Amino acid sequence: MMEESQFYAAAIHKTEHDSMRKKIQAIEDGWKADKDAQKVQNFLEGDFKSWMVLHVARWDSETAMHLGDSM
Ligand SMILES: [Fe+2]
Repeated sequence: MMEESQFYAAAIHKTEHDSMRKKIQAIEDGWKADKDAQKVQNFLEGDFKSWMVLHVARWDSETAMHLGDSM
């Protein structure tokens, strides 16, 4: 949808998601290896939580405004 509407920051937004997806994959791999719930909790309450708040506030809200304007 972002690409279809030619959102100027679609590539950056996608990169943000790809970066977090890699971190989540690393957490999953770690979980499978050691079942350390504390590592998962630390990630969710730390990096992931701050990423989510900032990502929604910055990229998702800007994308939504762009999509709304382009309809
Ligand atoms: Fe997003």
